[in-house]
Amino acid sequence: MWTTLDRGCWGFCSLSLLVTIVCGAQSANEPSNMSYVKATVDKLLKGYDIRLRPDFGGSPVDVGMSIDIASIDMVSEVNMDYTITMYFQQSWRDKRLSYTGISLNLTLDNRVADQLWVPDTYFINDKKSFVHGVTVKNRMIRLHPDGTVLYGLRITTTAACMMDLRRYPLDEQNCTLEIESYGYTTDDIEFYWQGGGNGGSVTGVENIELPQFSIIDYQTLSKKAVFATGSYPRLSLSFKLKRNIGYFILQTYMPSILITILSWVSFWINYDASAARVALGITTVLTMTTINTHLRETLPKIPYVKAIDIYLMGCFFFVFLALLEYAFVNYIFFGRGPQLQKKVAEKANNEKKSRLESNKVQVDAHGNILLTNMTSEMGGTDMIGVLSDPQATMFSYDSASIQYRKPMSSRDLYGRPGIDRPTGHKKGRLRRRASQLKVKIPDLTDVNAVDKWSRVVFPITFTFFNLVYWLYYVH
Ligand SMILES: *[C@@H]1O[C@H](CO)[C@@H](O)[C@H](O)[C@H]1NC(C)=O
Ligand SMILES: *[C@@H]1O[C@H](CO)[C@@H](O)[C@H](O)[C@H]1NC(C)=O
Ligand SMILES: *[C@@H]1O[C@H](CO)[C@@H](O)[C@H](O)[C@H]1NC(C)=O
Repeated sequence: MWTTLDRGCWGFCSLSLLVTIVCGAQSANEPSNMSYVKATVDKLLKGYDIRLRPDFGGSPVDVGMSIDIASIDMVSEVNMDYTITMYFQQSWRDKRLSYTGISLNLTLDNRVADQLWVPDTYFINDKKSFVHGVTVKNRMIRLHPDGTVLYGLRITTTAACMMDLRRYPLDEQNCTLEIESYGYTTDDIEFYWQGGGNGGSVTGVENIELPQFSIIDYQTLSKKAVFATGSYPRLSLSFKLKRNIGYFILQTYMPSILITILSWVSFWINYDASAARVALGITTVLTMTTINTHLRETLPKIPYVKAIDIYLMGCFFFVFLALLEYAFVNYIFFGRGPQLQKKVAEKANNEKKSRLESNKVQVDAHGNILLTNMTSEMGGTDMIGVLSDPQATMFSYDSASIQYRKPMSSRDLYGRPGIDRPTGHKKGRLRRRASQLKVKIPDLTDVNAVDKWSRVVFPITFTFFNLVYWLYYVH
C-alpha cells in the first residue's frame, strides 16, 4: 500500500523535477529569450518609418557626438590638409525604438542601420572621407531600452586646414574638424558634445603620435551656422599643432650655418690664391641654393615670406658677401694695377720735364713708392717700356708677395722712407746701371686689412643676425 503511494509520490516528484529540469534547460539555451528578442526587434522595425525623424513635429532631436581619435596620419603643407582616423559616435533618442521586457542593450548587425533613421551629419571641411569597409562596414548600432540609439562609425577623413606658414617651421597650426547637419535645421536637430567639456567627448588625443607635430591643445565648440536656408547646428573640434623644430635644425639650419661658416675660410686663404677662394665662394653659394630648392619642394607656392626663407636668405646673403669680399680684394690688389701704372708713367713724364733729380723715396697719391733716379739720357718711352715689360711687372708682384709676408703699416712707409733695406739695395744696384726704375709696391696692408676686417665683422654680424632671428621667432 505504502509502496504504491510511495511510487505515486516518487512519480509525481520525478515529473515535477523533470519539468523543472526541462524548464531550466530551456532557460539556459534561451530559445524563448531569443525569440522574445526577435519578436521585440521585429516589433520595433515593423511600421518604422525611416523617412521621419524621431519626435517628428515636436522638439528637435538632440544628437550627442563623441570622437575617439585613432590617429592623425598626415599633415600636409602642400595640400593644406590633414588626415585623421577616428571612431565617430552619435547618439540620440528615438522613442519609436524603446522596448520593454529585455533589460539588455541590443547591439544589432550594422545592416540594421540602413533601416533606421540616422542624422545626416557631414564634415564641412572634408576633402575625402570614407567609412572603413573591411571586413564589413565599420559601423555599429546599439539600442537601449529607453530608445536611445548609439551609432558608431570608423571614419578616415582628409580635412582642409588652412595653414599660416609665416613662421614656418617655428609655427603652430590650428586645424579643425567641423561637423554639421546637412539638411535638418536647428528646428529639427540639435548637436551637442557628449560628456560636456573636452574630457568626455574627445578621447585618444594623448595617444596621437605625429612625426612632425605635437598636439599641445584641443578644443570643442558648438555654435550655429546661419545660411540662406536656415540655421544649422555645428560642432567643431580644433587641434593646436606645434611643429617639432628638430628635423629642421638637423636638415636646414645646421647645414646653412656650417656652409656660412665655411665661406669665411676664404678670409684666411692668401688673397693671390684666386682658384681656392673663388671655388670656395661659388661652392658655398651653390650649396645654399640647393638647400633652398630642397626645402621648397615640400611647401606650397605661397606668396609671403616664411621664417625659414628669411634665415636661408640671410645665410645666402652672407655667403654671397664673402664671395664679393674676395672680388673686392682681388680688384684692389690686381685690378687697379694697370691704372696705377699709367698714373706712374704720367708722373714720371712730369718729373722728367722738371728734371727733378732725387734719391728720395717718393710716395704717390695711391701709396705707391716711386724709386726714381732720373737721368737725362733716359727717355719717356724707355720708361714705359720698362714698366710694360712683363719682367718688370713680375718683379713688382714678387716684391708685393715679399711685402705681404712681412707686412708693414703705411705709416712706416710714409714716416721712415729709407728704412726698407732690400728695396734700398735694389735701388742702389739699379742706379749703378744708370737706368731708371720704378718699383711699384701696392699698398698691401690695405688688402690685408680687408681680409682682417672681414674675419671679425662677418662672424659678429652673423651672430647678431642669429640672435635677432631666434629671439624674434622663439618668444
Ligand atoms: C532571458 O534570460 C535571462 C538570463 O539569461 C533571464 O534573467 C531573463 O528573465 C530571460 N528573459 C525572458 C523574457 O525569458
Ligand atoms: C546599456 O548601456 C548603458 C549606457 O551605455 C549602460 O549604462 C548599461 O549598463 C548598459 N546595460 C547593460 C545591461 O549592459
Ligand atoms: C582654433 O581657431 C578657432 C577659430 O579661430 C578658435 O576658436 C579655437 O579656439 C582655436 N583652437 C585652439 C586649440 O586654439
